[in-house]
Amino acid sequence: MKAVILAGGTGSRLKPLTYWTNKHLLPIGNYPMICYGIAKLREAGIRDIVIVTNRSAIEGFVEVLGSGRDWGVSIIYRVQEEAGGIAQALELARPIIHPKEKFIVLLGDNLFEESLKSYAELFTKQEVGAMVLLKRVADPKRYGVPKLDEVSERIICIEEKPDNPASDFCVTGIYFYDTSVFQWIDEVKPSQRGELEITDVNNAYAKAGMLQYRVLQEWWTDAGTFESLEEAGKRLKFYY
Ligand code: G1P
Repeated sequence: MKAVILAGGTGSRLKPLTYWTNKHLLPIGNYPMICYGIAKLREAGIRDIVIVTNRSAIEGFVEVLGSGRDWGVSIIYRVQEEAGGIAQALELARPIIHPKEKFIVLLGDNLFEESLKSYAELFTKQEVGAMVLLKRVADPKRYGVPKLDEVSERIICIEEKPDNPASDFCVTGIYFYDTSVFQWIDEVKPSQRGELEITDVNNAYAKAGMLQYRVLQEWWTDAGTFESLEEAGKRLKFYY
């Protein structure tokens, strides 16, 4: 199974730190943030990784990770020329993923404890569709929030940053897709902020009854804010 790490964006919530570097290259514990995603994928047995980032940042990623050799992985880099959303960034991996190949997508600012190995194995057995990992959170309004069908372990729909969350779960940035994701991306329209939203893609799967979920049991955070960045630094020091 291959994996795609999405590591672009402007890191606007982390300014002024992100004036001079890409968010995913900021230090957490002893490593640049991107290294934790690479380590988690390697731990799950994944060796082929695509990193999508922006033009100005690519040099930094190459300096830190090179070909991936030191991490036991092989990395292909793709450049997102302008901010067009998470789904648009994902589309750039299309030529590298084989038809009918299942793969993992990781938002590069998602940091977590649990191994992805059993989830990847589970998804291999899933016949069609996609699977996302959820996490119970105190502040669901900051995230994509799912409405669940707990019997079939399917998501009915996801609302992005809702005022009245349908559950206290957030959809983390850990997604498992089949290659039909690229057809769904072709069909979604830009949102009000002019971007192709990953939540719209996931909702297309949900509407077709093909979006399964599992819930992460251990610690998880997205490190997109100063508070979460600081917490991640404290937590991850113990693991690496
Ligand atoms: C993105 C997704 C959101 C998800 C979050 C997880 O939000 O749009 O659905 O819950 O990542 O990290 P963003 O961090 O880009 O606001």
